[in-house]
Amino acid sequence: MTISNPNPHTASADWWRQALVYQIYPRSFMDANGDGIGDLVGITSKIPYLKELGIDAIWLSPFYPSALKDGGYDVADYRDVDPKIGTLADFDDMTAACKAAGIKVIVDIVPNHSSDDHEWFQAALKAGPGSPERSRYMFRDGLGPNKDQPPADWECIFGGPAWEPVGDGQYYLHLFDASQPDLNWDHPEVRADFIKTFRFWADRGVSGFRIDVAHACAKKIDDFLGPANPHTKEEIATLCHQMLEGTLDEDAHPYLDRNEVFDIYREWRKVFNEYDPPLTAVAEAWVSSKRKPLYASADGLGQAFSFDMLMSQFDPVAFKQIIVDSLADAAKSGSSTTWVFSNHDVVRHATRHALADDGGYHETSRKYLLNKGVGPEADLALGLRRATAATMMILALPGSAYIYQGEELGLFEVADLPAEERQDPTFFRKPGVDVGRDGCRIAMPWEAEGKNMGFGPGKRPHLEQPEGYRALAVDVEDKDPRSTLNLYRKALGLRHELQCAEELEWLSDDKEVIHFKRPNGWEVLVNFGEEARAIPAGRKVALASSDLVDGAVPTDTAVWLVPA
Ligand code: NOJ
Repeated sequence: MTISNPNPHTASADWWRQALVYQIYPRSFMDANGDGIGDLVGITSKIPYLKELGIDAIWLSPFYPSALKDGGYDVADYRDVDPKIGTLADFDDMTAACKAAGIKVIVDIVPNHSSDDHEWFQAALKAGPGSPERSRYMFRDGLGPNKDQPPADWECIFGGPAWEPVGDGQYYLHLFDASQPDLNWDHPEVRADFIKTFRFWADRGVSGFRIDVAHACAKKIDDFLGPANPHTKEEIATLCHQMLEGTLDEDAHPYLDRNEVFDIYREWRKVFNEYDPPLTAVAEAWVSSKRKPLYASADGLGQAFSFDMLMSQFDPVAFKQIIVDSLADAAKSGSSTTWVFSNHDVVRHATRHALADDGGYHETSRKYLLNKGVGPEADLALGLRRATAATMMILALPGSAYIYQGEELGLFEVADLPAEERQDPTFFRKPGVDVGRDGCRIAMPWEAEGKNMGFGPGKRPHLEQPEGYRALAVDVEDKDPRSTLNLYRKALGLRHELQCAEELEWLSDDKEVIHFKRPNGWEVLVNFGEEARAIPAGRKVALASSDLVDGAVPTDTAVWLVPA
């Protein structure tokens, strides 16, 4: 069946350059079968909602078979659907329904590590040291006469040791949880298998991929291990810091941001370009800005996330610098940038900007929440006001924008989940240090009064909504013309007018405002100062993130302006 595309903005091969991508965390979106976990049928049932919202694409966080030790980023089989989430037939139905609605589908690919339940890892455990099965992962001998010491004292990103013993004198490397063994990307079978995975999903109608930890696949660890050149965890941490700062020499880190990684992506790009239109890919790469264009290059992945906005405080000078730098970085590779304030890994931005320390780096705000909760000083109304102003700013910038399920409702981070409800390994592996990421992964509230707030007809949601989510439920906000949901709907509808040429002209040097113009003549003004700002002459307001005061733009407010 050929379905014509009702969304002209996704019809061209360049659709991704200024697309509005909506991130779905499938377990927490909509539970159609009532088992307490969101599923693909649930997503399909909400496509009319997504269409009305005005998005161009969905990005699905992993929905593959998984023990959910890291929320699905522990993949046991890259070419199937987790039975808890649905079937391949459900996936096909969802993709067809998206296509009919003019919505593209992007799926998450996790190449750095598999789950320890993956058949390759299970075979590696059985086959023993030195076997070809082990060579698909990063196994090394333990140190000492009994080989009972890890090859190094390195720490994994989730906290605790990065080397896990398997009981026969060998250890395997895991940069994340112990249930996520790192794959060996020097192995031809690993390379070939991922190409097979890309084709598998592309042939089922997927338009692009989000590449998890794209800066970590290539590894040359042996030069950093062993008696000849041992590197301690402190030395590795320093290298990581320098890598992020952009002061590290190339290829000086054993496993982060190494140049060999681009050989992998060039190989993938050839496959992506066999499709019409070519498949898109966006790198999740935590690297310095000077290296980012390498990930976003046209012969590589094509686009890379810019996370600077989500690491920044609500500050016009910082925001402006980030805009200038991100656009310049993207231009270096002929790519377009990506804007993102919230995702499944960070404290929701409506809460970050409500905290007494105003968010800042997302790990800092997680630490803040762990120690103080949201705190009596937190002003959630202010946080939401700032979050919507900031979002309206990024929605009007050239480049693609990523929004995360529930931010269109103004959902806040749930900071006070009891320990027994928590699932995120970072909470357990960094006790007393990290509150974890469960608070932004709570089930969506669809109906204020419905069972499970409309999330599902059966069991209670796996991360249940707090009472405070009722007032933010979709059916409540739908009816309120002043709700966050209706603001997002209007903004995304109007945003299609801005998906034109990608230039931006700065209209003011005032340090308390951000004021720019797009090629279609629209202006965007965000006021961060205490005093209200007048609407520029000859302009009228098309949309405002908060009410105007005496016809002027009050503090913490963004307006989109069109010729009067
Ligand atoms: C980045 C993902 O966004 C995060 O959720 C996951 O825990 C790690 N990569 C490991 O896959």
